[in-house]
Amino acid sequence: MNKYSQHLAVLQAQCEAALALCGFDALAIASGVEKYAFLDDRPYLFQPNPHFKHWLPLGAHPHSWLLVRPGHKLRVVYYQADDYWHVPPSDPSGAWTEHVELIVISRPEDAAAHLAVPGRLAIIGEADAALPGVLPNNPPQLLNRLHYQRAYKTDYELLHLRAASRRAVPAHRAAAAAFAAGASELEIHRAYLAASGHTDRDLPYGNIVALNEHGAVLHYQHQDALAPTQSRSLLIDAGAQVEGYASDITRTWSAGDTEFDGLLAAMESLQLALVDEVRAGVDYRDIHLSAHRRVATVLRDVGLVNLSIDAMTAQRVTAIFFPHGIGHLLGLQVHDVGGFMADASGALSPKPDGHPYLRLTRPLAAGMVVTIEPGLYFIPTLLRQLRASPAAAAVNWPLVEHLRQFGGVRIEDDVVCRAEGPPENLTRDAFGLV
Ligand code: GLY
Ligand code: MN
Ligand code: MN
Repeated sequence: MNKYSQHLAVLQAQCEAALALCGFDALAIASGVEKYAFLDDRPYLFQPNPHFKHWLPLGAHPHSWLLVRPGHKLRVVYYQADDYWHVPPSDPSGAWTEHVELIVISRPEDAAAHLAVPGRLAIIGEADAALPGVLPNNPPQLLNRLHYQRAYKTDYELLHLRAASRRAVPAHRAAAAAFAAGASELEIHRAYLAASGHTDRDLPYGNIVALNEHGAVLHYQHQDALAPTQSRSLLIDAGAQVEGYASDITRTWSAGDTEFDGLLAAMESLQLALVDEVRAGVDYRDIHLSAHRRVATVLRDVGLVNLSIDAMTAQRVTAIFFPHGIGHLLGLQVHDVGGFMADASGALSPKPDGHPYLRLTRPLAAGMVVTIEPGLYFIPTLLRQLRASPAAAAVNWPLVEHLRQFGGVRIEDDVVCRAEGPPENLTRDAFGLV
């Protein structure tokens, strides 16, 4: 069996078990619909239902449907508009077509007849995907089970996640070269796109391309067309997609500065140590808490804060400099679903007290793909809080002032947890290839 048919068999078995447990006879999944701007005829960027692209490598196919029934082949209702304004989806092709029952329709409403099966039907989709007699019901218990399972990637999925890192890494290299040549954020972004072969519309998330102080904005959303007079640092958080699977990679580059380069080197070691903590059975929350202790050590070692590690975590000094989670599940979605599930029934696994931005609280297991993305930033609004706190006296404010010009550091890799031993680092492996 090839990897795709193995993947389909796994999904079919999981789905059949979940349907039986939840009292359904079949599952229909809508690919989704295009949405239009208010009072306008321009559609927003189409975002496929991730449940749909879990089964099929089709990410630009609105108005299509899947039907999963125990003991039957997967039915694909493939919408191919007869349209001369836009390019319709091409004729169905690719290895997936050999594994499914394929029905091609040219009008969205024609899907309904092919989804009408006896028994109780679960329907996963956005409300706008509804057809007469086919109203998405999104049963929570069924969704819980599917979301829980999605964290464990099949070999087919790992193949695409590996490829998504390999696609992004040459683009990160091109961005670093553009930064070294004094390019603007917009020019760096374009260099990234050119090298990845993606357009803006293909990216798994909007590129974060932040020069100098902009690196302190966690989700900096602009791309200045003019280069600053001096480019001191670049923080670039950018991914790529392969068959609907994303990479999510951050690198921070320096134009050369003793203090900033020292901080960068310390964060590089810290990040690698955290990646090495990704092991089967480890509670991901412990990696997040370990990151705080390690950030405290960096703050002390580079001379930013003169307090003990315990005092820094207890007084929440590390949260000033590292105010986000250590990472998240990665897959069909950049922030993949199911990060807080204690089990498949939907019980939740809480975040540690005082850590509201952590997106993953599950124990790690073989086949899970997570990001490890520690950061250390100089964020004006949080530094103001620090100045007003008792810990202020222990802070080297002249060094903070100097490092503020560089914004911050984030280093983010995509990592596969293995059954035993150290993890597979998709991102570092891809950097090793170029
Ligand atoms: N690129 C968003 C994140 O790193 O989570
Ligand atoms: Mn990222
Ligand atoms: Mn991330």
